[in-house]
Amino acid sequence: MFDTMTITKAFGALCGALLVLLLGGWAAEGLYNVDTHGEDHVSGYRVVIPDASDVVEAEAEPEVPFEEVFAAADAIAGERLWRQCSSCHALNAGQNGVGPYLVGVVGRDIAAAEGFDFSDALASLDGVWEPERLSGFLENPRTWAPGTAMSYGGMDDIADRANLIAYLATQQ
Ligand code: HEC
Repeated sequence: MFDTMTITKAFGALCGALLVLLLGGWAAEGLYNVDTHGEDHVSGYRVVIPDASDVVEAEAEPEVPFEEVFAAADAIAGERLWRQCSSCHALNAGQNGVGPYLVGVVGRDIAAAEGFDFSDALASLDGVWEPERLSGFLENPRTWAPGTAMSYGGMDDIADRANLIAYLATQQ
């Protein structure tokens, strides 16, 4: 009985001591942070500066206009990307599959493939498939033409889109 009480008390004291240590540690950490704000700036900024330049680079990247990327596009590299489209599209005139035939699509009126039942999302659009428009559509079909029947997730890379469109332009 006496032993049990002693052990219980000792254990309690130990727990209390640990708790005090923990709380003390937190408090000290808080104080340390506050205290060092005035003096330890050098190491603090060393971490912050590379982060800031990363952000600048990431923001600068999408500003290359599509025209410029397209001017340097590689149709042969684009041909490999065509595989992502060929399950639904053919390049023979008049051959519609899940999607309309795409021979001559660059510069063709939007939703003009004969015999294909286009969604209103595309049928209601005027104009022709300029390379830049195609790029917008291919980047994210559902955002560019809400309600489109083309269930393709999109091609994120601007250079890939330019290469693929350059390849399509060779298919007249
Ligand atoms: C899962 C099938 C599918 C895939 C994969 C697909 N498409 Fe389509 N695509 C369609 C359908 C369906 C339509 C018709 C959309 C509508 O009517 O809204 C379409 C429409 C189009 C049009 C408009 C044609 C016109 O005459 O106005 C273009 C351009 C096009 N797709 C290009 C592509 C390219 C390039 C790829 C590959 C990166 C691709 N598609 C991948 C199904 C697909």
